[in-house]
Amino acid sequence: MKLWGGRFRKETDSLVNDFNASIHFDSRLYREDIEGSMAHARMLADCGIISQADREQIQRGLEGILADIEAGAVEFTADNEDIHMNVESLLTARIGEAGKRLHTARSRNDQVAVDLRLYVRREIGEIMAQILDLQQAVADQARQHQNTVMPGYTHLQRAQPISFAQHLLAYGEQLRRDVTRLADCRARLNVCPLGSGALAGTTYPIDRFETARLLGFDGPCSNSLDGVSDRDYALELLGDLSILMMHLSRFAEEIILWCSWEFKFIELDDAYSTGSSIMPQKKNPDVAELVRGKTGRVYGSLMGLLTAMKGLPLAYNKDMQEDKEPVFDAIDTVKMCLPVFTGMIATMRVLPENMRRAAGGGFINATDCADYLTKKGMPFRDAYTTVGNLVYYCTQNGKLLEELSPEELKNISPLFGEDVYEALSLETCMGQRRSRGGPAVEETSRQIEELEQFISEYRGKTTKIIGGSRAEVCG
Ligand code: ARG
Repeated sequence: MKLWGGRFRKETDSLVNDFNASIHFDSRLYREDIEGSMAHARMLADCGIISQADREQIQRGLEGILADIEAGAVEFTADNEDIHMNVESLLTARIGEAGKRLHTARSRNDQVAVDLRLYVRREIGEIMAQILDLQQAVADQARQHQNTVMPGYTHLQRAQPISFAQHLLAYGEQLRRDVTRLADCRARLNVCPLGSGALAGTTYPIDRFETARLLGFDGPCSNSLDGVSDRDYALELLGDLSILMMHLSRFAEEIILWCSWEFKFIELDDAYSTGSSIMPQKKNPDVAELVRGKTGRVYGSLMGLLTAMKGLPLAYNKDMQEDKEPVFDAIDTVKMCLPVFTGMIATMRVLPENMRRAAGGGFINATDCADYLTKKGMPFRDAYTTVGNLVYYCTQNGKLLEELSPEELKNISPLFGEDVYEALSLETCMGQRRSRGGPAVEETSRQIEELEQFISEYRGKTTKIIGGSRAEVCG
């Protein structure tokens, strides 16, 4: 008979039984569920709601179940619907009477709410650690390519000279925001819904501060209806992961372009590329393409849960059982993408000659040419038009700006002197861009240092988040 079978006179239809069950995906919450139960039982005993002897039996019973699950010795059943009722049934089967007291002053609604929060909290720490690894790979590649000149693009048109280091470090910044966004999510989610009951709290003299503390939360949530119906933290996580994947996808898109024969700015390591079944010459950037593709899947999880939540009246509704699969899938997807992406970045071979060659075409020193005239006294807007005419002249005569003779230049403006050739060299154009955040070596060095400081600061914080997620109740 069902744990809730008392009110019923018929067996559940077998299709309904399977339809209603969530055990085939929420079984992965077994540890969080057991930790939550251990905390709850300890609090019940401390508040005199159950006896210390019952609490000890419950604790030992749950420890045994945890060990057996981890040893693969437990079979969950759809008859017991979800992880919460599976664990409770196992406990009662093992310890009898005391097991039946565990659910005092508790509901599956606050139980599932606390389980998912604990799960998300730990996973956030693990994802943060993986992002830090990727940032380190970015910093390492950047350090080696501070003098590697490449064209910077806008509209995918060659725009101004930058270094490969500066380009990579832009991704370092995106990832920095991803890490702090996850840390923010973690900080906001860290309130404990346990003790909200089904929705309306309880008449038992429970101590919600104790369970919150035992489970490593900052305190209990303030309102019991909100406690059982809030899934903002899951949505925030999915939002954060969607933005992270959007960043990886943009990075992936560039990797794919850079690998093409049209660019050939980089070559991926053989270990991170794949071949074609028919074209013997092919070396494809499948890893980058898959990351780009899986981004859509993570967005789908966010949209799915937002949509599931949008029409729900307070408090718990069964629709909310649909929160877990998108959260799990997005976490699994991101955790699969990050390490392989990191390996791909760490092992890619950069081809500076090809970047330099591309930087040589496309008049990417045109702004510098206008700046040259401006520094000689011409108003910038006039200098801009003058150089525009010069570029047109070059395109008609098949020349680059730096290939024009002093006479051709002076014909356009008498302000041009011999020093213009030095001013137009790509090394000058890049090296003189010392404004904060620019591509000059001084600036990329500062950015690398800043990034590495961030990585070491957050390594510590991340270790604490992961460590702090092991609830202390288990002892
Ligand atoms: N399996 C359920 C879920 O994942 C647990 C809570 C069920 N509560 C209920 N009153 N049916 O949401």
